[in-house]
Amino acid sequence: MFDPNSFRKDFPMLRSGKMMQGKPLVWLDNASTTFKPDSVVAAITRYYTSETSNSHRGDYDLCYDMDMEVLNARKAVADFIGAETKEIVFTSGTTGSINLLAYGYGAKYLKKGDEILITEAEHASNVLPWYRVEEMTGCKVNFIPLTKEGRLTAENLEKAITPNTKLVCVAHVTNVLGFIAPIKELARIAHKHGALICVDGAQSVPHLKTDVKNLDVDFLSFSGHKLCGPTGIGVLYGKYSLLSAMDPFMTGGGMNAKFDMCGDASYLEPPARFEAGTQHLAGIIGLHAAIDYLNYVGIDNISAYEEELKKYAVEKLAATGAVTIYNATSEAGIVAFNVNGVFAQDAATYLNSQGIACRSGQHCAKILTDFLGTVATVRASFYFYTTKEEIDRLVEAVAKCKGEYLNAYFN
Ligand code: ALA
Repeated sequence: MFDPNSFRKDFPMLRSGKMMQGKPLVWLDNASTTFKPDSVVAAITRYYTSETSNSHRGDYDLCYDMDMEVLNARKAVADFIGAETKEIVFTSGTTGSINLLAYGYGAKYLKKGDEILITEAEHASNVLPWYRVEEMTGCKVNFIPLTKEGRLTAENLEKAITPNTKLVCVAHVTNVLGFIAPIKELARIAHKHGALICVDGAQSVPHLKTDVKNLDVDFLSFSGHKLCGPTGIGVLYGKYSLLSAMDPFMTGGGMNAKFDMCGDASYLEPPARFEAGTQHLAGIIGLHAAIDYLNYVGIDNISAYEEELKKYAVEKLAATGAVTIYNATSEAGIVAFNVNGVFAQDAATYLNSQGIACRSGQHCAKILTDFLGTVATVRASFYFYTTKEEIDRLVEAVAKCKGEYLNAYFN
């Protein structure tokens, strides 16, 4: 049986007895960011204390060692998602990856009359870059309808896709509702219609086994900090032929082959073409350590345990009779709810007073609020180190929330 406690000891934030509002901290905002194990902190510290150097810019041992570190990290990331090493581009995070894709591919190849399909459940990072492409090229962003419960289905993509569709840009796991999209089937449909599929993997890669070749996705974006790695580092995976056809989003050192006084410049092949300037080397090394750690925990163990936590939380929260749950049937370890009669941000403020960290509001998925018929929700999101006792603390606080919150304000 999976035991989160056998991993909690590896996390300084979890073993330190950290308090919030005088109560032991319960961290239920893992869809926003995750805690880092010792091995990740040590890897970052090692870079700054004994291995500081740039990469690709020196003919001395320290720099050569850093080149090897970057190469090994790229290989670890590639293995983690079933890609080839040369298909891994380091970026600043999912947002950086999708913007690179939008400007480097979308703005280059799309034109008036073309269409990009997204859904109402997408995070701002998978909406706004495509709106920019729409503005720049005259193409149109359209929406694949979700089912009543908020799910993206193959059937609905099949109905929405047209001969004009060039890109299907969707999350593998949505960040508020936590539904898992049938990506392999969506990829098959997109390809059948001559479109590419670009997957936002921010909420899936940390939690689900991801094999880009098996899924046959064209692009996949994800962040390091949501999988126990550092902030400021992320990945864009792309099929190599597609990366090769893309323009850089940023130019500068490290990505050019040559340039002259006439304004002529030629660029390196991917992934270097997309990695202008000194990279976030501590982040790359930390990301490698995070992936090693997740491999040690076992990604399939993580998904199975989170599904169990999700069911447990939904059951217990529903039993309080105090909440509306918006995604009881979704698979991922995310529960979006409201305490009946209490505005979401007020409920989250009350939870804070109980030492519990949950996100509230629109969670950057601002179109989804119309779909849900509520302006805001509270979101509790789990990871493999979350315990059932922590969920019990949430449930207990939720049960008391309305009465205590109203008392505090109106008495
Ligand atoms: N994308 C992160 C979230 O959903 C920040 O909370």
